[in-house]
Formats: sequence, C-alpha cells, structure tokens
Amino acid sequence: NSILVINGPNLNRLGMREPDIYGHETLADLESRLVEYGKGLGYEVVCKQSNFEGQIIDWIHEAQETGCAGIVVNPGAFTHYSYAIRDAVASISVPVIEVHISNVHARETFRHTSVISPVTRGQIVGLGFTGYELAIQAIIKGGS
Ligand code: DQA
Repeated sequence: NSILVINGPNLNRLGMREPDIYGHETLADLESRLVEYGKGLGYEVVCKQSNFEGQIIDWIHEAQETGCAGIVVNPGAFTHYSYAIRDAVASISVPVIEVHISNVHARETFRHTSVISPVTRGQIVGLGFTGYELAIQAIIKGGS
C-alpha cells in the first residue's frame, strides 16, 4: 500500500522561499511528516520533488504502471498553465488530489486558475502542510 506525493517547481525551497506565504518549515520537514503520517495509517508514503515538467509527467505515468493507492500533487506554478501535466493526470486511473499550501484564491489572479483540477479527484488549498495530510486521508477513505 503506497501513496505518491509529488511536489513541483520551487517547492525544494520551502522554508527559505517567501516564508510569510509558505511558512518556515522545509521540504524535508514536510516529507518526513507525511511519511510518519502515512505509517500511522498503514501506508508507505513516497515523496518526490522536481523542478522539471517532464520528470513530473514521467512519475505520474510510472505510478499507473507500478500501481499505488493514489497521488498527491502540488504542481507549483505548473498548476496554472501545464496542459501536459493535466493530460498526464487524465491518462491514468490512479486517483490524483491536487494540493496548494497557500490560498491561491487570495493571491494574484493568475493563481486563481488551475488547468489540472478538472481532471483530479479534488483540490485542497490554503491549509498549509495539513492539506497534504487531508489529501492522503481522502485517498485512503475513497470518494464517499
Ligand atoms: C503553490 C501555489 C502556486 O501558485 C505557486 O506557484 C507555488 C506553490 C502552493 O502550494 O501554494 O509554487 O502551488
């Protein structure tokens, strides 16, 4: 039983990057928290991060081939314009939940649109790192 967590561009700079928006905790803090959270629920949480669109697409395809309970993805700024990541999500049957740390709707207009969310199971925004835990919980519990 595994769940894949993919963080996209610039999220390797969590903790250093705009801490007033994204907080002071690092990507390593987030990942260890999610691994522990998964363990408590009997799931292996596998965390990956890339600044490259194609790498993220390859990981989405691989998750379908190797099989996992679901994918939690924060596509970073790719959220707002990557039709290629959208198509990758649409191409698989593994459930995908989109997470954003910040409340994108309270920020610049270009962040209000997600081209990914129409093909995801759901979207969680503005709840900080807790959003990832809620997404993991939603994957485990299913849709109802
Ligand atoms: C983000 C929101 C995006 O607009 C931004 O480009 C990010 C992070 C978030 O987690 O709040 O890189 O996805």
